[in-house]
Amino acid sequence: MEQKPRIILDCDPGIDDAFAIVTAARWADVAGITTVSGNVSLDRTTANALRLRSLLNADFPVHAGADKPLEAPPLSAGHVHGECGLGGIDLPPPAKTPDSFDAIEFIIETTKNEEGLHLVPIGPLTNIALALQADPNISRRVASITFMGGSAGGLGNVTAAAEFNIFADPEAAEVVLTSGSPVTMIGLNLTHQVQVGKKETENCHAIDTPVGSAMAYLLDFYAEFYRSHLGTDTGSMHDPCAILAVTHPDLFGFEKRHVDVETGGKHTRGMTLVDERGQGSDLEPNCEVAYTIDSQKAVDLIMQAVADM
Ligand code: RIB
Ligand code: CA
Repeated sequence: MEQKPRIILDCDPGIDDAFAIVTAARWADVAGITTVSGNVSLDRTTANALRLRSLLNADFPVHAGADKPLEAPPLSAGHVHGECGLGGIDLPPPAKTPDSFDAIEFIIETTKNEEGLHLVPIGPLTNIALALQADPNISRRVASITFMGGSAGGLGNVTAAAEFNIFADPEAAEVVLTSGSPVTMIGLNLTHQVQVGKKETENCHAIDTPVGSAMAYLLDFYAEFYRSHLGTDTGSMHDPCAILAVTHPDLFGFEKRHVDVETGGKHTRGMTLVDERGQGSDLEPNCEVAYTIDSQKAVDLIMQAVADM
């Protein structure tokens, strides 16, 4: 049996973060979860990570991290994920408190003790940036920093130009992209190709387990958002794509690109500018950018994870 890639999952649960946690628990070897302020406040993202760990009967540690961005004012996506971050789901309160309130120290020490880990941030990049600022050698110790955020082709969701995770903390994203780390970007251009809807919701309902019922509830809540706010019958399953990029890279097509983050810009703050000039570019590539994915296989793996956990 092929060894599962070992990861630290940095997240802001969040409905799609919840699916990423289930996908990681099934297909990856999770060294730990770190939480960050993002979709909702840090106390809520941390409580949600603890509740999901209990739901999965998992034993990986949960470490709380940054409660605000490096410089930007805190942003919220409660209109997408509900004020609590998981659509008001009826899950037991966290059985335990976080293993620590120092996610940065956990990231630094764990990447020292175990070279070759993947850091997989799927919320604002604040924790990762703080860890890199405290110990720049992280960039040489990790196998990758594979993040969900940004976009090739100028797609945005929070503004016309910026995706939520980058817009929430552009300064942190700039630290990560200029750190010299092996960075992989899973942007909206990729995650928009992975859609879930009624069929996946019914699939989860049919998985008659606590995990299946919880995930079905979350998909029902998410459907309310994309139907009412986006006018669509399906929604993007963003965060699990970052997990699958590490566990099943053969599903993806990547290209080396130079990516900059706009931190000024009246209209473009938080934009990830991907240099598509090819040989004409005068900029060294600093990122693997995902452009294609076997979308059906990706959805099947996410659903399989729900069924197996
Ligand atoms: O833009 C999508 C990203 O923002 C996802 O990580 C989602 O959880 C939100 O944090
Ligand atoms: Ca997220």
